[in-house]
Amino acid sequence: MLFFLFLAYHYSILMYDQAIGIFDSGVGGTSIWKEIAQAMPYENTIYLADSKYAPYGKRSKEEIIELSTKNTEKLLELNSKIIVVACNTATTNAIKILREQYDVPFIGIEPAIKPAALHTKTEKVGVLATRGTLSSDLFAKTSIRYATNIEVIEVIGSGLVELIEEGKIQTPEMKRLLTSYIRPLIEKNIDYLVLGCSHYPYLIPILRKILPDHIGIIDSGEAVARQTKVILSKNNILNISMKEGTHTFFTNGSLDVLQEILKTSSISYNVKNLSF
Ligand code: DGL
Repeated sequence: MLFFLFLAYHYSILMYDQAIGIFDSGVGGTSIWKEIAQAMPYENTIYLADSKYAPYGKRSKEEIIELSTKNTEKLLELNSKIIVVACNTATTNAIKILREQYDVPFIGIEPAIKPAALHTKTEKVGVLATRGTLSSDLFAKTSIRYATNIEVIEVIGSGLVELIEEGKIQTPEMKRLLTSYIRPLIEKNIDYLVLGCSHYPYLIPILRKILPDHIGIIDSGEAVARQTKVILSKNNILNISMKEGTHTFFTNGSLDVLQEILKTSSISYNVKNLSF
């Protein structure tokens, strides 16, 4: 018994310094990384931006599972102790399979319907997400579970991820597209808009200009960071070094777009190209 306790203790001691592995279909999951890095400053992180295969939202479930498996394999090869699937589309379509296939803990991200359903007064909330997320079984289950007495109005954000991946955030084209998706939701009297894609928090400044002040915007970044910390702690693999964490970003797409999106962060990081 003592021997096993000794092994378990050493196992966590060996693991705590390993990185939190994070992946997304592209640059959007950096919105989740920011929350994680802020909440856990001593953790090392590795981020994979799978921009070459973005958008995932238009792909079949099988393709999303295949890409998520590829990213997980790469993050494990790079010595991750936990995997954060910083993509709603990958979470809702693939996390169940990933959890069955690998021993490492996985944290996922899903549209935050629960807080919206709890706080809405008009009993109408909008969800902006990809086709892949909105058509998934997991999203359907979450909606049934948390939104029984309210109306959830779903909108597919076609083209938004593509523009963000091209670095075209503050553009008239983006504003036009967003306005066309959001206006019908305003007319239907929603009082919360749930951002169901990790790319979309980068659109908040534009959304704030389109939405009346009384409509709240909810995204899942903080909740994901909180949950990651809980699971690291439960597994006894929180980094206890009190040394500022290192942050490495790998992309199989444009370095420039990734660098531009990270530029607002005050945390230091490294950005590299990698083929995966
Ligand atoms: N960031 C991904 C998500 O949260 C974008 C999906 C896509 O590539 O279409 O769903």
